Amino acid sequence: MADSILVPHLADAMVRVTEAAAIAASKLAGMGDEKAADQAAVDAMRTAFNAVDFQGRIVIGEGERDEAPMLFIGEEVGTGKGPAIDIALDPLEGTTLTAKAMANALAVLAIAPRGGLLHAPDTYMDKIAIGPGYPDGVIDLDASPAENIKEMAKVAGRPVEAMTACVLDRPRHAEIIDSLRSVGARICLISDGDVAGVINTTNPDTGVDLYIGQGGAPEGVLAAAALKCVGGQMQGRLVFRNDDERARARRVGVTDLDRKYQLDEMASSETVFCATGVTKGGLVDGVVTKPGVTITDTLVMSSADGMVRKILSRHRT
Ligand code: FBP
Repeated sequence: MADSILVPHLADAMVRVTEAAAIAASKLAGMGDEKAADQAAVDAMRTAFNAVDFQGRIVIGEGERDEAPMLFIGEEVGTGKGPAIDIALDPLEGTTLTAKAMANALAVLAIAPRGGLLHAPDTYMDKIAIGPGYPDGVIDLDASPAENIKEMAKVAGRPVEAMTACVLDRPRHAEIIDSLRSVGARICLISDGDVAGVINTTNPDTGVDLYIGQGGAPEGVLAAAALKCVGGQMQGRLVFRNDDERARARRVGVTDLDRKYQLDEMASSETVFCATGVTKGGLVDGVVTKPGVTITDTLVMSSADGMVRKILSRHRT
């Protein structure tokens, strides 16, 4: 393995961080309170970070300093000893999923050496992503969804009718859905959770070939970090609804507001990605609580060695 400052020690430590957040959030699964579940995950994640020997700096977090008391953008975490690391996090990816005890809620983070992750503002992002195995350039955010999936089908030697695109089920995606349907592609609609939606393109068992649509920009960078570890292609472009959002982007250092980011610009150096299931899902199982023990399931991936591991942990309680 090339010199890595993340693997194995920090990767192992980060698993404990997402495990802690997932366990805390799972206690509020199905309770109908999105904010409380998110807060529980944030508190647990922050406490767990502060036990790790590193100089952690949050570059994608819960919001700007004045709106998030914890895990805000720029906050420093860790003991202050050890390597200088940037962190993108979403302590609870799927607040609604958790509040409603629906599948696929995750506690998620990615780490990289300083400067290795795009400082994305808390805005939307147009995204397109595929898993490994396709030639470079087969997808393009500026081509129509129909053109993209037709090109993928041609390269894969499959009929378009055998191709599946994953799309967040939102009214804003009506045009994307129409475009995909116009060429006969299949669509897997998800109610939330586009980090998992992107990662599913890397796993043939899911049947998902393409992820396309608009979701959170922070989630876009987290998904890019995941693809950096396992291979695949992704492009993203920030979407602004008003001047306040443009100002947010400028505050985190974005100068070209229309830039089409490639995967390697969103995750530009070595990275480790961790996701622990809060509720049961396609990527990982949810937290299971039994007398005396809590069981967690975590996906951890590292770009340095391309390793993908599932870690089932039994936490004594
Ligand atoms: P939360 O965990 O913040 O609820 O985000 C879930 C999510 O579905 C993301 O995966 C996705 O990027 C985003 O919300 C989409 O935003 P919106 O719900 O506004 O369409």
